[in-house]
Amino acid sequence: MKAIVVKPPKPGVEVRDLTQVIRHGSGTVKVRILENGICGTDREIVRGELTTARPPEGRDWLVLGHEALGIVEDSSDPRFKPGDLVMPINRRSYHGKCLNCLVGRPDFCEANEFVEAGIIGMDGFMVEYWYDDPKYLVKVPKNIADIAVMAQPLSDLEKSVEEILNVQRRLIWTCDDGTYNCRRSIVFGTGSTGILISLLLRTIGFEVYVANRRDPLESEAKITEEAGIIYYNYSKDGLDKLKSMGFDLVVDTTGASASLIGHEIEMLKPNGILGLFGFPAEGELTLRYDVIQRFIYKSNAIVGLINGQKPHFQQALAHLAQWKSIWPTVANSLITRVVDVNDDKELMQVLNRKEKGEIKVKIKWS
Ligand code: BGC
Ligand code: ZN
Repeated sequence: MKAIVVKPPKPGVEVRDLTQVIRHGSGTVKVRILENGICGTDREIVRGELTTARPPEGRDWLVLGHEALGIVEDSSDPRFKPGDLVMPINRRSYHGKCLNCLVGRPDFCEANEFVEAGIIGMDGFMVEYWYDDPKYLVKVPKNIADIAVMAQPLSDLEKSVEEILNVQRRLIWTCDDGTYNCRRSIVFGTGSTGILISLLLRTIGFEVYVANRRDPLESEAKITEEAGIIYYNYSKDGLDKLKSMGFDLVVDTTGASASLIGHEIEMLKPNGILGLFGFPAEGELTLRYDVIQRFIYKSNAIVGLINGQKPHFQQALAHLAQWKSIWPTVANSLITRVVDVNDDKELMQVLNRKEKGEIKVKIKWS
């Protein structure tokens, strides 16, 4: 059985013929892989840079892949039947001892004992087939099969937006028409995470800026134009202008330097919130006392954002279906490259680095 395997913390990736069968939980549903998406986390593992990555207990290797679309081949669970399209949830409770894990929310695990498929202590889904637990499978509508693989990264952002709105329930944050149409947001970073959360914020009515250090690429220009998102090049137009404009919501998805966060804090309006999604890869954050004074005075908030769960996968699939009909250009621009799993050379290329203009690369299994 063909699988894409890594050996964290060591760098490297290889295609292997596995002899053992992969089984998760009750394992009552046999899923054959159709497609995998690749994200920055996969590449960090391949480069040996992700310190949290580790194989399952008792061995030194791990099947990679947490973004997956599969088809049910066999099932003894009445909720799934052969031919159903499904998507597996990537973070799962391990011992299930913490209260949040017990109610299906290991994204808020307090015991730090969860596993993540293809990342932390659990085999991922870059494998021909596996046996899974129905609790961790979501059904995928067939008419969005072409972009469905985006639902995993989007689930993280559904959860992020939900969390931001929950934090903001500390005050009345909706506008005088009951919507969020009067709220201004800015998203730093135009990778798939930055694009997806910008689209979500547009969907619920926010005014949305998306910022990067360069002019938009063609794919980004098409998406932002159709969805009514304002692109901002901050190496050209500067960060100071953004600080004087002020934002109700700032989201960082850059994974760049920690020092950017200091600038983002200064962009917050009264009651504004900063959401941190991307892991900064370097640098440090120094905040002057007067910046902290203003932060307190304005009742600002900062929240860490990570990992969506089953409800968020369901919302993500519904949003993908919605976008396909209201923003067809957006929907057609999200997948920027499809690689055949049998094409070793291309496969190694896309597993190792992000290419220019990439939003989402998917691996197709045949
Ligand atoms: C995944 C998340 C996961 C995070 C941390 C991301 O790439 O999409 O679901 O929680 O990595 O491992
Ligand atoms: Zn990911």
